[in-house]
Amino acid sequence: MEKKELLYEGKAKKVYTTEDPDVLIVSYKDDATAFNGLKKGTIVGKGAINNRMTNFIFRKLEEKGIPTHLIQELNDRETAVKKVEILPLEVIVRNYSAGSFAKKMGMEEGIKFSRPTLEFSYKNDDLGDPFINSYYALALDLATQEEIDALTKYAFLVNEVLQEYFDGLNIDLIDFKIEFGRYHGQVILADEISPDTCRLWDKDTREKLDKDRFRRDLGGTEDAYEEVFGRLGIQ
Ligand code: TMP
Repeated sequence: MEKKELLYEGKAKKVYTTEDPDVLIVSYKDDATAFNGLKKGTIVGKGAINNRMTNFIFRKLEEKGIPTHLIQELNDRETAVKKVEILPLEVIVRNYSAGSFAKKMGMEEGIKFSRPTLEFSYKNDDLGDPFINSYYALALDLATQEEIDALTKYAFLVNEVLQEYFDGLNIDLIDFKIEFGRYHGQVILADEISPDTCRLWDKDTREKLDKDRFRRDLGGTEDAYEEVFGRLGIQ
């Protein structure tokens, strides 16, 4: 599988066309941004870790019946994926208070909820990805009711699978963001699942093993990514 043309360059990935109109190649970068691109930096080795971790997790999710865009890992940084039309919704699932939730609700971080929450952000950099609900998404034709039902079901299932899996690695899954795409009339999981898009805390020390180290200048960002990757035990 060969890259043809650069189709799109995002904050953390480049996307290339291939000979096959149904197949794209994503290439993960070490670039990191936060606060809608205001803060910029590099997390050395992040591209390879996020690529390999995403593929490892997507394969697990496929085994549990969640369809994903994954076709084939090509090398450390590059993966062939199904070409989808990304729904302009960030789907955020939370098990504990943290980040924007903690701020909005005036709560300290790390309080476990009675049950998980789900929320949407409208993917729009100019607006800073504002919080919206499913009625906004329907009113603006961002997604259909069927698509919202499907991705809601998948998002909670992803949460169950990941919570159980990370639990075995002595990690609490605090929250995460996922994205979905349309593929031949179906909604499938796309984008990535990595320390860029999850909050992962060590169960014993409560140490943050995710991008919050970069967002909040906590130091040790590369070590945290490598720690999570090491615990996955990918050969
Ligand atoms: P938040 O608490 O800042 O709303 O973030 C919730 C989760 O979503 C957290 O795991 C980090 C992730 N996230 C992204 O993947 N991309 C983003 O642009 C933002 C703001 C959060």
